[in-house]
Amino acid sequence: MDAISRIEQALTAAVDRAEFPGCPPRLIASVRYALFPKGARIRPRLCLAVAGACGDDHPEVSDAAAAALEFLHCASLIHDDLPCFDDAATRRGKPSVHRAFGEPLAVLAGDALIVLAFQTMAWAACKVPERLVGLVSAVGSAVGMPRGIVAGQAWECESGAVDLSAYHQSKTGALFAAATVSGAAAAGAVAEPWRSLGERLGEAYQIADDIRDVVADPQALGKDAGQDALLGRPSAVGELGLAGAIERFETLTEAAVASIPACPGAVDLRKLIVLESNRLLPKGLVHRAA
Ligand code: IPE
Ligand code: IPE
Ligand code: MG
Ligand code: MG
Repeated sequence: MDAISRIEQALTAAVDRAEFPGCPPRLIASVRYALFPKGARIRPRLCLAVAGACGDDHPEVSDAAAAALEFLHCASLIHDDLPCFDDAATRRGKPSVHRAFGEPLAVLAGDALIVLAFQTMAWAACKVPERLVGLVSAVGSAVGMPRGIVAGQAWECESGAVDLSAYHQSKTGALFAAATVSGAAAAGAVAEPWRSLGERLGEAYQIADDIRDVVADPQALGKDAGQDALLGRPSAVGELGLAGAIERFETLTEAAVASIPACPGAVDLRKLIVLESNRLLPKGLVHRAA
């Protein structure tokens, strides 16, 4: 089965299990609305690619880790779009969750997805429970304090100057690092050598998001553009200029490719990273913007 089919199946199975029996219908509807139809699914794809490179001897565990990452990512998007954060009307080409279901359900859907992430890994690891410790620790640190998504979003609540790289590493890089580390941990491999790949890719990904916020059109993005300047967010374009941000993106993606540990799947991983960087910042878009 290809990676995308594995991911969609794992997400659907976990949500079905959480729904039955007796879940409030609008809660489960808001959770499904946030998850489907899909976005890029880049974090779970990265997780499965690393698991594959490490042998993937228990695919049910890597599927669960991949699903957990997507649950946490979607939870972060729901909460990020709320009026108290970015107040975004649109996400993935449709109304954001709070616009479609109201704020209370948006808060609860995000909370439910955070819990479901950890439940999903626990359900899957019964044959290899010793792997659960590494998985929960890798995924947990990506979302919490001191340097996970929550911390990244909290930098927006500080009044002093914010270090851009630390902000990007926390709000986005940490979950990418969890994707590479948990992919290896799910396959029973030594996980730490995979961290640097995820960190670099994640930081590059947020820089690309900052660039696209300035140069791409909202139709293509599926969300509003021009938000960083409007909300006064620290951004790569704001700090480095467009050319500087593009250069930083390229440096980071090259560093990411160079940091792939030696393994049988290294060639496929390199291909995935090059394909993704071209998807994020197509040469035509960058050329037009420059
Ligand atoms: C959006 O992430 C938020 C960022 C961290 C840049 P994605 O660009 O991966 O969003 P989806 O999952 O494809 O919608
Ligand atoms: C996304 O930050 C990081 C999250 C933790 C959700 P942004 O606010 O820049 O992402 P978009 O542009 O809304 O997707
Ligand atoms: Mg935000
Ligand atoms: Mg936002």
